[in-house]
Amino acid sequence: MKLTGNTILVTGGTSGIGRALAEALHDRGNRVVITGRRQALLDDITGARPGLVGLQLDVDDAASLSRLSIELRERFPELNVLLANAGISRTEDMASDAWRADDAEAIVRTNILGVMRTAAAFLPLIKDKPHAAFLATSSALAFVPRADFPTYCASKAFLHSWLQSMRHQLRPIPVEVLELSPPYVQTELTGAQQARDPRAMPLDDYVAEVLRILDAGDIPRGEVLLERDFARRWAERDGRYEATFAAMNPA
Ligand SMILES: NC(=O)c1ccc[n+]([C@@H]2O[C@H](COP(=O)([O-])OP(=O)(O)OC[C@H]3O[C@@H](n4cnc5c(N)ncnc54)[C@H](OP(=O)(O)O)[C@@H]3O)[C@@H](O)[C@H]2O)c1
Repeated sequence: MKLTGNTILVTGGTSGIGRALAEALHDRGNRVVITGRRQALLDDITGARPGLVGLQLDVDDAASLSRLSIELRERFPELNVLLANAGISRTEDMASDAWRADDAEAIVRTNILGVMRTAAAFLPLIKDKPHAAFLATSSALAFVPRADFPTYCASKAFLHSWLQSMRHQLRPIPVEVLELSPPYVQTELTGAQQARDPRAMPLDDYVAEVLRILDAGDIPRGEVLLERDFARRWAERDGRYEATFAAMNPA
């Protein structure tokens, strides 16, 4: 993917990874449109960076996606890159009598259907554009799950598979399809404590590493994966799956 001169739409651009990547890409000379549900954050972020555009979007809402696609077609006909990054994460305890599938449904709605709907709404806008690219944020937990986040991890495993098919189908157009698989990063994904957790990778370091990989341009299988996650990515192939699962999920 070329790293300057694009027009880029970022879902989940109001905080965390999406916001930090959007700001970095803006600073690198791209036209960037961030989206999210929180209008106050869109206003704050765009106010601090002239040229950055903020538009409201709820990826759970078909009407919101279709409104935005009409607006983008009119205002940003040069749009050529999509980053489907919006996502939510929740723990679930299936051993508890109180467990219901509500959280699972919410995660599937946003993390799976939200990405599919984002692709359906906006892919037609980028298909015929130079250097077209579709990026989506899965997770290193797609490869070996943390059992206390069952539906979250499964949603990212779904994306990992789905993006492979998308990549294959879009090859002749062409649209480059890239999968970002972040490690545990300091954002508020699971709450304010995650942003301060010393075990999590600092957000700026993660973004710098993503840009370094994209810059270098050698991205096997379209997977933007940090070296620290190679062991998890290849655990099954290398016969370390059960040990890796056990280490991540102490009894
Ligand atoms: N941080 C990590 O450790 C980590 C690791 C692996 C993968 N990831 C993935 O990275 C992505 C970004 O997460 P983050 O860590 O940056 O967390 P975050 O700060 O909570 O960001 C989540 C973003 O998604 C947006 N969003 C959530 N539901 C939405 C909806 N229905 N419609 C539109 N936007 C929605 C939020 O914006 P609004 O609330 O304004 O709508 C927010 O901008 C997620 O897909 C996450 O699964 C994160």
